[in-house]
Amino acid sequence: MTGTDTGIGKTVVSSLLVASIRGFRPTAYWKPVQTGIEQDDDTAEVRRLARCTRDEIVDAGIRLPRPLSPHLSARLAGRSIAVDELTAIADRLPKDRFWVVEGAGGILVPLNDMETMADLIAELRLPALITARSGLGTINHTLLTLAELRRRSIPIAGVVMVGKRNDENRKAIEEYGGTAVLAEVPFLASLGPDSVGNLAQGLAAELRRVAS
Ligand SMILES: Nc1ncnc2c1ncn2[C@@H]1O[C@H](COP(=O)(O)OP(=O)(O)O)[C@@H](O)[C@H]1O
Ligand SMILES: [Mg+2]
Repeated sequence: MTGTDTGIGKTVVSSLLVASIRGFRPTAYWKPVQTGIEQDDDTAEVRRLARCTRDEIVDAGIRLPRPLSPHLSARLAGRSIAVDELTAIADRLPKDRFWVVEGAGGILVPLNDMETMADLIAELRLPALITARSGLGTINHTLLTLAELRRRSIPIAGVVMVGKRNDENRKAIEEYGGTAVLAEVPFLASLGPDSVGNLAQGLAAELRRVAS
């Protein structure tokens, strides 16, 4: 699970994926790199929104205090991030589950001087699902993300759009991006386990396409 930006809805879409896919396949969520852990804890948020059981959440990963890009947040914490270290955690995850792995920011966010989130996605060998906003600006951001994934031969699972429905933007992403918009997620007036559960049920058929 990647996105065209930070704050685009990856965590909410991750919660929806867990809540909709668990009905037909064991599912779990993992956030390999979390910055700004004191204010933003995506793992805790998915646990809350999708009412996850213990087996549906992995807590392991790199956790950094400053709410900045991982490369900088790591540097300020006096450490570094290596893709190898994250794939070593991934190797220990149960293989019999469908994994929703949430990135940090978008795909070219640096992890260190050499590696980006895209390198992590490639090493994890998981298809990339892109969360994109529905409104103005999304065509460019989404097409850039798709182009970079293709350049790296990373398989693409599709796009999930978040926000007020925009049929023209959906059509443009599908046509110019040569990919499917799997689901359109509306803004929820009150975001919580109940509203996420209801929405996951309503979008189950669409979201399950990611795992089939
Ligand atoms: N469908 C939605 N309905 C209501 N609020 C949302 C929705 N999607 C995202 N948000 C809110 O927008 C903000 C960013 O979403 P989040 O999923 O955390 O983005 P990301 O993981 O890409 O940084 C959060 O405050 C979240 O609660
Ligand atoms: Mg997030």
